[in-house]
Amino acid sequence: MKKALVTGITGQDGSYLAEFLLDKGYDVWGMHRRTSTMNFDRITHITDKIHLVQGDLLDQNSIQNLIREAQPDEVYNLAAQSFVPTSWNQPLLTGEITALGVTRMLEAIRSVNPRIKFYQASTSEMFGKAREVPQRETTPFYPRSPYGASKVYGHWITVNYRESYGLFACSGILFNHESPRRGLEFVTRKVTNTAARIKLGIANELRMGNLDAKRDWGYAGDYVEAMWLMLQQNEPDDYVIATGETHSVRELIELTFGYLDLDWQKYVKIDTRYVRPAEVDLLVGDASKAHRKLGWKPKVALKELVKMMVESDLQLEKELSGRKNKR
Ligand code: NAP
Ligand code: GDD
Repeated sequence: MKKALVTGITGQDGSYLAEFLLDKGYDVWGMHRRTSTMNFDRITHITDKIHLVQGDLLDQNSIQNLIREAQPDEVYNLAAQSFVPTSWNQPLLTGEITALGVTRMLEAIRSVNPRIKFYQASTSEMFGKAREVPQRETTPFYPRSPYGASKVYGHWITVNYRESYGLFACSGILFNHESPRRGLEFVTRKVTNTAARIKLGIANELRMGNLDAKRDWGYAGDYVEAMWLMLQQNEPDDYVIATGETHSVRELIELTFGYLDLDWQKYVKIDTRYVRPAEVDLLVGDASKAHRKLGWKPKVALKELVKMMVESDLQLEKELSGRKNKR
């Protein structure tokens, strides 16, 4: 039985990857940080099937001890301070976790067992002010936030440990991927959740930032398969994972409100609090290398993704208001 350690197991991708690996017959270990209240909401359904162990990307000892204890065959480093706006308010913390945290993981692997395969969660945010369209593995990076800059460091240190020490280390450059488990602060979930609440009469407006930004949105459930595929190849490498389609935030809103038979223009207000100091205007990925070498293709398109997220938010909000009414 293969053993995998997943950092960021409590996050969106961690939860889908853990399910995926369990289905493949893996012994799954998940690293989570200590919090005063438990935040296992995304993994409640699988907590009895996985080993949950405490550790923090800020703490070298905890990571090293954990890798020594688990002795994994594969490590998926998904933990990060992953919200772009927070990275301007907490740039140093973002750098410590999202950039240096990667070196801590790599150092721990190198000293405990350099044969462990390593996946680094890199991102299309590294392309930032994009130098070419579509973006591919060879497109130069131009990050536009402390988060993006931290991820560029994480990417290059992964490449560097592969080239310096011969580690089997891969960097997956994933474009935005969403799901009903997406955090409420990210744009897709903010839109689907608020629209669902408007439909149910619980909210009456949606305050937004830049509607012109364009993203290549895929489904998180599809993208975790690509992470695993990268570690099953003969040679470690870096891959862009994307749908190849781009849509504006405005189109996302139109799709979502349209699905609910609502006129979005009546509810959406522009609020400068949500406009970023530097924007990433256009992301669209060319995943042809992943198609060719990994045999990976996305299955869920944006329209279907929006439907899945809206339906889930309608259900969730109905349950929450039902519970409130009972109290
Ligand atoms: P997410 O939902 O924000 O999850 C982040 C995870 O990291 C959470 O489990 C969080 O734990 C954990 N974490 C944060 N700080 C930590 C620390 N100091 N030590 C240990 N764990 C820590 O993010 P996601 O959407 O699943 O994304 C997974 C990874 O892929 C991230 O690295 C992200 O930057 C990257 N990525 C995401 C996308 C996307 O579109 N989703 C695209 C490209 C790359 P808590 O639950 O305790 O906060
Ligand atoms: N969150 C948010 N809230 N975004 C808004 C809003 C708003 O009210 N209004 C407009 N936007 C725009 C942002 O300016 C950005 O251009 C776009 O919507 C997407 O924002 P997010 O969903 O917050 O995601 P992101 O693209 O900044 O970052 C996500 O994807 C990256 C991959 O490209 C995160 O998951 C990162 O961790 C990930 O690396």
